[in-house]
Amino acid sequence: MSDPALRAQLSFTLSDTHFDALGTRYRGKVRDVYRQDDRLFLIATDRLSAFDKVLTTIPFKGEVLNRLAQFWFEKTAHVAKNHVLDVPDPNVTVARATQPFPIEVVVRGYLTGSLWRDVERGERKPYGVPLPAGMGKDAAFPTPLLTPSTKAAPGEHDAPLSEADVLGRGLATGQEWGAIREAALALFREGQAWARSRGLLLVDTKYEFGKVGSTLYVIDEMHTPDSSRYWRAAEYETRLRAGQDQAMLDKETVRQWLIREKGFSGHGPLPVIPEDIRVRTAETYLSAYQQLTGTALPLVVGDVVERIRKNLTTHGYL
Ligand SMILES: Nc1ncnc2c1ncn2[C@@H]1O[C@H](COP(=O)(O)OP(=O)(O)OP(=O)(O)O)[C@@H](O)[C@H]1O
Ligand SMILES: [Mg+2]
Repeated sequence: MSDPALRAQLSFTLSDTHFDALGTRYRGKVRDVYRQDDRLFLIATDRLSAFDKVLTTIPFKGEVLNRLAQFWFEKTAHVAKNHVLDVPDPNVTVARATQPFPIEVVVRGYLTGSLWRDVERGERKPYGVPLPAGMGKDAAFPTPLLTPSTKAAPGEHDAPLSEADVLGRGLATGQEWGAIREAALALFREGQAWARSRGLLLVDTKYEFGKVGSTLYVIDEMHTPDSSRYWRAAEYETRLRAGQDQAMLDKETVRQWLIREKGFSGHGPLPVIPEDIRVRTAETYLSAYQQLTGTALPLVVGDVVERIRKNLTTHGYL
């Protein structure tokens, strides 16, 4: 059901921005972040990263990510304070600049992904807490598990942190970590309940937190397909019983294509990603958006940079 708009947008995808007047630019893997005193402009580009590398751009991906993060920040504002100040364009969030905690706060509802690989290798306590015994791949934890990791420098991989590491390395005080822990688990509960009502399972996700003075804020993005794993709820039990992989809603299309067709797993020169794969990946992001929010994203084909420039000007930021 490939929409011609997706193909048309291939030549307009947002790979880089240079809004010098917005402040000093920091280029994350996916977001261009401009700093202006106590606020940040987070511009979600269409860059797709996997294996810790930027591989290509995906039509409308930045818009899906920014809109979905916004959707979730609004929905969970009663649970935890977040960094959002304004959303002047579908790809842009103006956020409160915080002092970020250098911790990837991962919450998991199921034994899957890298944690399952740890268990298969014989690790029983990768994050300093014993895992319930006898659990198979993709089984649900009795209660969600917090598995924090370091925020690795570019090119390095995130490493697991135990609670003792968090405190011992001074990444957060005991009081701060208590508040982060409580907020992350409460946000995850909200996320799981909403996803479930929309026919999805929120399997795991990554939060980032920052502080201003002693006030804690959820920062970065939230419950997006880039920071979270979602499975289709209706197929979960059948697939689990049949020993099949779960039906996921994320950037696996590109990863799988690279592994299967190109034998690529992050090393050596980057293969060129064909347009068909980029369009199929766009469909995955758009269907995640539609399924989670209940509305289809209006696809407006055209130059994203110019639209952002116009919106930032209208809102008095440029
Ligand atoms: N409110 C905030 N205060 C301070 N930093 C923030 C805030 N919101 C987001 N950030 C930081 O801005 C960056 C967003 O960029 P992006 O998500 O593309 O980075 P990333 O690829 O996930 O991580 P990296 O920084 O390792 O490239 C992240 O480093 C994130 O920690
Ligand atoms: Mg990020």
